Amino acid sequence: KKVVLAYSGGLDTSIILKWLQTEYDCEVVTFTADLGQGEELEPARAKAVMLGIKEENIHILDLREEFVRDFVFPMFRANAQYEGLYLLGTSIARPLIAKYLADIARESGADAVAHGATGKGNDQVRFELGVAALEPNLQVIAPWREWDLTSRTRLLEFAEQNQIPVAKNKRGEAPFSVDANLLHTSSEGTVLEDPAVEAPDYVTQRVVPVEQAPDQPEFIEITFEKGDAVAINGEPMSPATILTRLNELGGKHGIGLLDFVENRFVGMKSRGVYETPGGDILLEAHRGIEQITLDSGAGHLKDSIMPRYAELIYNGFWFSPEREALQALIDKTQEHVSGTVKLKLYKGRARTVARWSAHSLYSEKHVTFEEDAGAYDQKDAAGFIRLNALRLRLIAARNARVADK
Ligand code: ARG
Ligand code: SIN
Repeated sequence: KKVVLAYSGGLDTSIILKWLQTEYDCEVVTFTADLGQGEELEPARAKAVMLGIKEENIHILDLREEFVRDFVFPMFRANAQYEGLYLLGTSIARPLIAKYLADIARESGADAVAHGATGKGNDQVRFELGVAALEPNLQVIAPWREWDLTSRTRLLEFAEQNQIPVAKNKRGEAPFSVDANLLHTSSEGTVLEDPAVEAPDYVTQRVVPVEQAPDQPEFIEITFEKGDAVAINGEPMSPATILTRLNELGGKHGIGLLDFVENRFVGMKSRGVYETPGGDILLEAHRGIEQITLDSGAGHLKDSIMPRYAELIYNGFWFSPEREALQALIDKTQEHVSGTVKLKLYKGRARTVARWSAHSLYSEKHVTFEEDAGAYDQKDAAGFIRLNALRLRLIAARNARVADK
């Protein structure tokens, strides 16, 4: 039996690795991805070797460009926010990991894949729906749902018994559960579990407290092509480079911090702290360029499906016909979403201050308060309002009639 494990190199997935070897007596193939979490990957290789994994069974891949180009950017075309606030930083990374679990399983002839998500959360659902959609016959092993290592103490005992190094003050002692990639850092658990208690400052990792943000604003320009950012300050950059750069800028100005209680797919509420500095800037900029390039009918339609689209991603249905159908609609609306937005970054906020585009629908000639040289006949508005008011007049008359009786 052969199992592909989504392996971070951290304590939990190292324990899972060992547990798979002993409990399932199987050959383990590891998959570790660089999604921009800002951690060295070579230690994960060394650790896998130390735990007895053969070189040819260790897969370490830099997926940063694919992550941003094929997952983050398509999602940002929709301005997706789950429950009005969450930019889906973890949710959008899971289908990509699922895709590689399926690919590596296929190539290495594995019968199963394994992941380190618990039985209480969203991530298990996202990994497993993704794998089911791409490689329907693969078995999935979710140790957290099976084993009896149900407390931190028992987990550490198991690690000790199996010579798994427990890095003090690093992952092993992490005071909360962290998931990081190029789009965000999320923190959940322990000190954050009581939503009535304010999150301590040490939770945040990539966004400076707004009090420490520079007293001088910074202005940047982001250029879009068909809904995707392609350049910062006129300099063309790859998708992952753009997001990396925006993370630096946003983090420095205290942008993109969210303390949020959300509804998990499995039914419970959970509280998390999210840091999405680049994402916050990108969302504001994308809305800014849409303001002048999107038709109102197309724009209001895509806005109306956004909550449904965000919920599909949150719930793990990236690889579903309905997400793809909504994506096709969203992408169609982006054909003219090209141009440049100027933003002011200052004390925790990115604000659009100017936008321009060769594809603009904005017509100063029509909107001007000055002489418009016959572009628009104000008399037309009288009939427009009269017919729109007709229904309202008939209702008011009916209501007066009925009330009289
Ligand atoms: N609650 C967020 C979500 O469901 C973040 C999950 C974080 N996952 C983790 N393994 N720490 O998208
Ligand atoms: C987990 O339970 O593994 C993390 C949180 C989540 O998946 O929602």
